Amino acid sequence: MGMSDSKDWAGVRSGDWTIRRMAEKDLKSILKIEERSFVTPWSRQSFLTELRENEYARYYILVYEQAIIGYMGLWFILDEGHITNIAIAPDFRGQGWGQHLILEVMRHFCSQGMDRMTLEVRAGNQAALHVYKTLGFQEAGLRKAYYSDTQEDAVIMWAELDHQMIALRQDALHLRALR
Ligand SMILES: CC(C)(COP(=O)(O)OP(=O)(O)OC[C@H]1O[C@@H](n2cnc3c(N)ncnc32)[C@H](O)[C@@H]1OP(=O)(O)O)[C@@H](O)C(=O)NCCC(=O)NCCS
Repeated sequence: MGMSDSKDWAGVRSGDWTIRRMAEKDLKSILKIEERSFVTPWSRQSFLTELRENEYARYYILVYEQAIIGYMGLWFILDEGHITNIAIAPDFRGQGWGQHLILEVMRHFCSQGMDRMTLEVRAGNQAALHVYKTLGFQEAGLRKAYYSDTQEDAVIMWAELDHQMIALRQDALHLRALR
């Protein structure tokens, strides 16, 4: 089964959190987080286009005690996942939620045959770089002055997906977590 056949994951629920597919009704909450998270936030229209028209894209939200506290999206390109967007609501950062969301998405798609994931991150985004390195992403190159708003460089990162590594990282994260 190719990745193109296996993108329709509905999500996962456990205890007080849920990860599920993003829907248009979620956009009001998501845009509040988006606007507090990025220099140049995506517009409502950008999300709508992704949700309605991009058959290669999937967006997931993280819900904790009924509230949307984060989200991420990816494009499926052959056996690769390209992360397009990820944010955790400011009040919920630094508690492991970002790593948790990425690891759950990695775990599912790794089991469906995805071999690697990639993303671009601003060279000055220390928190995100730290999270990605913790999850096994490695720097593969720079796109100079890629971000037109600040002229910042983009760091291109790749991670090879491996079931055992994902499980080990999930165990390490859960040992530390408050929940
Ligand atoms: C990047 C982001 C999604 C991470 O989510 P999160 O829930 O805060 O991440 P976690 O709690 O799982 O992990 C945060 C890690 O970064 C570390 N960290 C936080 N701020 C940091 C900083 N300024 N410099 C270095 N490390 C930092 C934390 O110590 C923690 O590492 P640890 O687990 O080893 O202690 C979140 O910060 C965010 O939404 N940022 C704004 C949007 C954004 O930049 N998205 C990424 C675009 S590529």
